[in-house]
Amino acid sequence: MNVELETAYIGIDCTAPAAMAGYLQDVVGLMPGEPRDGAASTWRVDGKAMRLWLQTAERDDAACIGFAASSTDAYQRALARLQQLDVECTPLTTAQKTLRGVQDGVAMDTPWGVPLELVHGLADAATPFASASYPEGLVTQGQGFGHFVFIVGTAEDYEASRRFAIDGLGLKLTDFLKMPIGPGMEMNVSFFHCNPRHHSLAIGFVPMPAVPQRLHHINFEVARVAEVGMAYERALQAATPLANTLGQHANDGMVSFYSISPGGWAVEIGATGRTVTDDWADVREYDRISDWGHQPPAVLKQLLSADAPAQ
Ligand SMILES: [Fe+2]
Repeated sequence: MNVELETAYIGIDCTAPAAMAGYLQDVVGLMPGEPRDGAASTWRVDGKAMRLWLQTAERDDAACIGFAASSTDAYQRALARLQQLDVECTPLTTAQKTLRGVQDGVAMDTPWGVPLELVHGLADAATPFASASYPEGLVTQGQGFGHFVFIVGTAEDYEASRRFAIDGLGLKLTDFLKMPIGPGMEMNVSFFHCNPRHHSLAIGFVPMPAVPQRLHHINFEVARVAEVGMAYERALQAATPLANTLGQHANDGMVSFYSISPGGWAVEIGATGRTVTDDWADVREYDRISDWGHQPPAVLKQLLSADAPAQ
């Protein structure tokens, strides 16, 4: 597969950066990065110097996400595609480039409400990645650091987001989900890829007048299911609230769980993600998120309660 893009980084607006830092280190198991001007803290998941940073703000949400081009030529091709659509691209300032550790980049607005940055030349770290939680490292080679999922509240924003992802960024639709979530209500999610990872970006549409938080979750893909299980135990021991228990997604096959960060958005830690090939011909509609598990904790409590009927 000719890979031209991968997920590079995410900047997080954060009301309580110290609490968030504790969560990222102790529960998620990330490695602290070097301090950088403009960041409350920076975080590593592999040999790159920085993949995630926290910046103090009056809200909790994603501040921006970055996609990195695999070469200068790929960067120019991606820029040309955006220009054809008249997407306004603002060059990153020197301070922004220094914080992100990139050679060059531009920022643009997106229909899902979180600015996206197209960059190239993401800096390597001076030291190897080391995390006791992930001795084999995370899955990032040729795929970037994980995936991002954002929520929109209107059909118009959903359609515009799909068009922007496909026509603007050049991502490919992997598959999509349509699922009833209440009387007359349906949840829609589109999953997009730009390299072997099943999805680097997904956009969910849940009808609502105002979206309280754009970022639904960040995914970190790890090497082994055992490391997912150990992360699950760290979350339980730290009394971190869970959004979803352990489970396996129907479309990408990932075994994962979701914990809720101090910022209210979730982190998915998973393994065994299905990969996509050039001849991907499985762009189909799913009617369920998971084959098993991924229950909200309330459902699990109900199943475990003494009142539950004996099976
Ligand atoms: Fe996910």
